Amino acid sequence: MSKIVVTGGLGFIGSHTVVELQNQGFEVVVIDNLSNSSIEVLDGIERITGKKPEFSAIDLREKLKVQSFFMEHNDVAGVIHFAASKAVGESVQNPLLYYENNLGALVYILQELEKKKEAHFIFSSSCTVYGQAEVMPIAETTPIQPAMSPYGNTKQIGEEIIADVVKVSAINAILLRYFNPIGAHPSGEIGELPIGVPQNLVPFITQTAIGLRKELSVYGGDYPTNDGTCVRDYIHVVDLAKAHVVALQRLLNRQNLDKIETFNLGTGTGSSVLEVINAFEKVSGQKLAYKIVDRREGDITSAFANTDKANNILGWKTQSTLEEAITSAWKWEQKVRSV
Ligand code: WQD
Repeated sequence: MSKIVVTGGLGFIGSHTVVELQNQGFEVVVIDNLSNSSIEVLDGIERITGKKPEFSAIDLREKLKVQSFFMEHNDVAGVIHFAASKAVGESVQNPLLYYENNLGALVYILQELEKKKEAHFIFSSSCTVYGQAEVMPIAETTPIQPAMSPYGNTKQIGEEIIADVVKVSAINAILLRYFNPIGAHPSGEIGELPIGVPQNLVPFITQTAIGLRKELSVYGGDYPTNDGTCVRDYIHVVDLAKAHVVALQRLLNRQNLDKIETFNLGTGTGSSVLEVINAFEKVSGQKLAYKIVDRREGDITSAFANTDKANNILGWKTQSTLEEAITSAWKWEQKVRSV
């Protein structure tokens, strides 16, 4: 079976994708610099799939190490590229860290793949490229807005770099624009491991419920939505991981219609912050301590996906409900805190 490199493969979405790849029989090599992940995730992947992937602790900003990796692994069929810094707020404070890490690493990987007679590349992008879209649900044809953060800009520029490179190389690419990934593998063996205070909603909810945080601050209750809180498209991370395998198989089987294709990955349903809180209280049987405070700088009002293209062309759709995703996140939080 084809050898696939997964960069950032010990991270939240990366590790869940490695599980699904190994479940499908792919030979996986993980690259991760452990800056936002833990080596123990390899054991979790092994407990789920019965196989520990080969692992290389390379920092992809080190060009010579990237070159020697791909010389050693000259039989790589494809790369799924997750490795990137992803904290919106941090990117505003430290833009060069984001441009170097998110774009420098991308260039070095593509320079190795362009040497090949054929290569397949899947890029972890984000709905953040749409900014606040005018029309809901958001389709892939929705105009890209000027980025609201260096993080978002690295996703936009990354997509443009790939689009330029596929024109003059044997690389075929698929850009996957994620909406809001949440949850954890149902086994409880892997999940999200936010470092420090979680920026994202669901890990903050579960850390509040487990007693790590005093209360959740709901950033804004005066948005023009049904209940005044922001709306997002929360997608189970396992559904998201499975989409990567489907996309990879599309490229390996040469079913792609163009050398670069773009797909939005979401459920197609928007949920407000209060609806997520209510869903958590329902699945956990616990009341959540929260208060509505001022809006968070940079937040958009609403974003949820038009899933037609992913459903009809990619042949993928989400299987899990919001409550199932939140249940898996809560199970994971309880497990992580029980050790
Ligand atoms: C969701 C909603 C907050 C925390 C970001 C990135 C995106 C992707 C996912 C990387 C918003 C509200 C949150 C809290 C809150 N990241 N919230 N209290 O901002 O939609 O997307 O993470 O790829 O690129 O932009 O996700 O989970 O931070 O926020 O009220 O303590 O929850 O205001 O409305 P977001 P989020």
